[in-house]
Amino acid sequence: MAQDRLLFFDTTLRDGEQSPGCSMTQHEKLLMAHSLEDLGVDILEAGFAISSDGDFAAIQAVSKEIRKPRITSLARARTEDIERAAAALEHAERSRIHIFLASSDIHLQYKLKISREEALEQAAKSVALARTYVDDVEFSPEDSTRTDIDFLCRIVSVAIEAGATTINMPDTVGYSVPNEYGAMFRTVRERVPGADKVIFSSHCHDDLGLAVANSLAAIEGGARQVECTINGIGERAGNAALEEIAAALSVRRDQYTVEHNLKLEQLYAASQQLAQVISFAPSPNKAIVGSNAFAHEAGIHQHGVLSNPLTYEIMTPASVGVPANRMVLGKHSGRHALRSRLHDLGYQLGASDLEAAYRAFTELADKKKAIYDQDLINLVAHHKRHEDLISAEPISEAS
Ligand code: KIV
Ligand code: ZN
Repeated sequence: MAQDRLLFFDTTLRDGEQSPGCSMTQHEKLLMAHSLEDLGVDILEAGFAISSDGDFAAIQAVSKEIRKPRITSLARARTEDIERAAAALEHAERSRIHIFLASSDIHLQYKLKISREEALEQAAKSVALARTYVDDVEFSPEDSTRTDIDFLCRIVSVAIEAGATTINMPDTVGYSVPNEYGAMFRTVRERVPGADKVIFSSHCHDDLGLAVANSLAAIEGGARQVECTINGIGERAGNAALEEIAAALSVRRDQYTVEHNLKLEQLYAASQQLAQVISFAPSPNKAIVGSNAFAHEAGIHQHGVLSNPLTYEIMTPASVGVPANRMVLGKHSGRHALRSRLHDLGYQLGASDLEAAYRAFTELADKKKAIYDQDLINLVAHHKRHEDLISAEPISEAS
């Protein structure tokens, strides 16, 4: 596959904000928007302008302050939504209106209570109206993955004819699986006239834990925009995690030859900024940014990583901005890891002292889930007092 460009569309401030407990004030959205700009996202969905005055003001503030990414607001396929989105985006250097309209029969029948023909009409009218305000319009047939494929092609075709520049096909309920999601992109791109003139986009939810895998499959199917959120926050089980897609593309560049604008070494900072803003850290075992993502507890792993990090690490912590390799010491840890951590803490132990320290350490590790640096300092200090670690002197700066 020839190298081509993949756009990162971040929706932390819109779909991400829809997770329970993750709503953000205008000030918080601005803090986060700066982090996302530093990270290099291409499109930043700042909110849903018509949903509240607060969201409108936040989109306006982000539009005024954030210059590099294109700023977008979500809108339903309704005149009042589109006008409100356009007004909120007025000061943006570059803007996009993102229109969504359900296309699956279950949504048309039970949620919107309109026919397929009415949906086609609304799609055409709303995209054409949005184009009178901005030259960049994204159209999302909501619940694409549960939409009859012939109708999906029709609605996408109508949206392109009306002037849509990006077609996003969301897996709204996280129902799809990778081969099916990738195939949907191939089919629509093959069948719809004008498909080569627009950018196709993925938008995946994680109800089956497949959001990132599905996003990667969409890229293989020809999507050149991925919609995602920091730490994977979002409706229900969340959205595809931006940091996981970015790291997968980087670590497995043998499989994915797309280029993008993200600065991977800013991933951890963006994740930490979000955790601070929403007072909600990613789970410790969360890939890339969780506190255990680069932690090695088992002795064999620790020994391997100390000899050569590539034994158990597929990327360096530094490559995604994680400060340093933080080994977690516990009852499975070995002497190598203990010696290394004691060295980091400033203690250089001879063989017999290390042996004594290791015995004391394993006794403690049997009683505690994890051993922290302060535990080790206490342990060395205790043994020093009892003179069984007689040469355990902190290393001076000069040595
Ligand atoms: O999940 C979804 O379908 C959405 C749309 C509004 C794009 O978030
Ligand atoms: Zn969504």
